[in-house]
Amino acid sequence: MPDSSRPIRTAAVIPAAGRGVRLGPGAPKALRALGGTPMLVHAVRAMAASRAVSLVVVVAPPDGAPEVRSLLDEHPLGGRTELVVVPGGETRQDSVRRGLAVLPDDTDVVLVHDAARPLVPVDTVDAVIAAVRAGAPAVVPALPLADTVKQVEPRSPGEPEPVTGTPERALLRAVQTPQGFDRETLLKAHETVAVEGEGATDDAGLVERLGAPVVVVPGHEEAFKVTRPLDLVLAEAVLARRRATDGYV
Ligand code: CTP
Ligand code: MG
Repeated sequence: MPDSSRPIRTAAVIPAAGRGVRLGPGAPKALRALGGTPMLVHAVRAMAASRAVSLVVVVAPPDGAPEVRSLLDEHPLGGRTELVVVPGGETRQDSVRRGLAVLPDDTDVVLVHDAARPLVPVDTVDAVIAAVRAGAPAVVPALPLADTVKQVEPRSPGEPEPVTGTPERALLRAVQTPQGFDRETLLKAHETVAVEGEGATDDAGLVERLGAPVVVVPGHEEAFKVTRPLDLVLAEAVLARRRATDGYV
């Protein structure tokens, strides 16, 4: 039972251990610069911007934890947010699990946020936290799709692929992060749900397999994931606009 005499403690886990293969050759994606500052630093600040978040756990590339620690020390948060760095694993799911493993026992609400979504607005972060605090065990920010989606029989790259179906677009949502969870629920999902191969790309998906309810709240266009080179162009443009209009650093 949660102890109602102490404040709810919210922590954010930021998986940042990926290589960023789709972005092309270079440093690990989270360490690449956006407006002169590493993407990871923007992502950490985006979580710390929420007054509710008292701890941020960064999951660094497996052999890069000391480097990430000193990088973050060079960009201090300036608030009271505690920062912990742990080494990541082979898959995103592995990396998230390693981050969850160091959360203090008194953590109630956990956010899991991709380092690759450096520009998520604090209002989106707060809306996710609020929905978890209101009783949803798993909360996902998401947006309606612009493109129609086809299901196919995958073939080798470049080969025509037979279409097997067209889900109704109005029923689909593209999910973002931070995803928010009741900590017990997320730990149980990571401990009990086994996923083959590449692992889960989405923590809420694990909770769904557990059979627990997952809800969607409105996401934000600026919470897009930097995945391919064109996304970097868009991120630089969003950042430049923010710096020009609201003094964002
Ligand atoms: N991630 C991680 N550990 C891994 C793989 C991914 O912590 N072993 C993190 C990434 O650093 C990123 C987030 O999970 O912040 C979302 O993954 P994605 O956008 O796929 O990033 P990468 O795996 O780095 O990119 P790619 O798939 O193009 O290599
Ligand atoms: Mg990946």
